[in-house]
Amino acid sequence: MKKNIVLLPGDGIGPEIMASAVKILEQIERKYNHQFHLEEQLIGGIAIDQVNNPLPEQTLAAAKKADAVLLGAVGGPKWDQNPSHLRPERGLLGIRKALDLYANLRPVKGFKQLLSASPLKEEVISGSDLLIVRELTGGLYFGEPSHRSNDQQSVIDTLSYTRQEIERIVIKGFESARLRDKKLTSVDKANVLESSKLWREIVEEQKVNYPDVETEHILVDAAAMKLITHPSSFDVIVTENMFGDILSDEASVLTGSLGMLPSASLAENGVGLYEPAHGSAPDIAGLGIANPIAMILSSAMMLRYSFNMTEEATAIEQAVEACINDGFHTADLKVAKGTQLSTTEMTEAIVNKLKTN
Ligand code: IPM
Ligand code: MN
Repeated sequence: MKKNIVLLPGDGIGPEIMASAVKILEQIERKYNHQFHLEEQLIGGIAIDQVNNPLPEQTLAAAKKADAVLLGAVGGPKWDQNPSHLRPERGLLGIRKALDLYANLRPVKGFKQLLSASPLKEEVISGSDLLIVRELTGGLYFGEPSHRSNDQQSVIDTLSYTRQEIERIVIKGFESARLRDKKLTSVDKANVLESSKLWREIVEEQKVNYPDVETEHILVDAAAMKLITHPSSFDVIVTENMFGDILSDEASVLTGSLGMLPSASLAENGVGLYEPAHGSAPDIAGLGIANPIAMILSSAMMLRYSFNMTEEATAIEQAVEACINDGFHTADLKVAKGTQLSTTEMTEAIVNKLKTN
């Protein structure tokens, strides 16, 4: 198959882990006889530096034409004092909105070999395997008004959702649960927020269409606790943008490192964007020690969701697991034994597994 992929390495460790994903994709091309045309574009801080715009028009135009987009990470202290329209994060939020990437799927699966890398007790995290379905184009991140008053004495952010926006993500949650263990946990704050009340009503309405899926509602504070006390009780979690952002970082603790979490951001129709759930980690950028696994697993999600290449995606996931089972890990994973590898060594190890398996 021939596919056009736009690469957005971005900032911090973004370029290093993107190089890893490219190595993996090149091996997939060779092994399965595909042709991936890779086109690099600017986003985030580097785009601000070069063209004074965190989301250049050229980037957006290329992304819209592509078969899929792979993104590394954006942001860093260099741009922290910039006015909000010139922050790297604006590039990421802008592309999510422009491509209508409303559904962010974040699978959280702990590998057996890495149970000891989590600060949580092994018996607590053992067996946990969940999927966070995060709404990505609404809520507090995009609501208007959002600004500081002229006298600097007050601020406002707005949490707004339309019925249609909630319906489509809730349906995505149910459909995802149907493909997994058929349990959906809807997370909200319906005891306080108007938006959450409507969210809960819509889950109740949609539930009748999914009698095969067990459905429950949990308030976000309780969900945060249950995620690290009884993580294996979750299958699919569906939740609004900001709750999903917070809970997915929390859930990464189950896997031993945020560097393990891939994600897929999907539109109803149109191009998908794939990015690790972690950020640009400016503190370790350029040191060659970043964990490439979240990025590599994101490229596997791209093969699966955008290109329907199930076998190829599974091959990548199995190669990653095989390396972990061999005791290979990067510095972020605090494991007692095994072999610590650099970003490129880890990537090579995964490529080698792809070659031989
Ligand atoms: C994420 C990140 C982004 C978010 C930031 C960089 C804007 O934390 O993808 O989870 O909050 O969505
Ligand atoms: Mn986040």
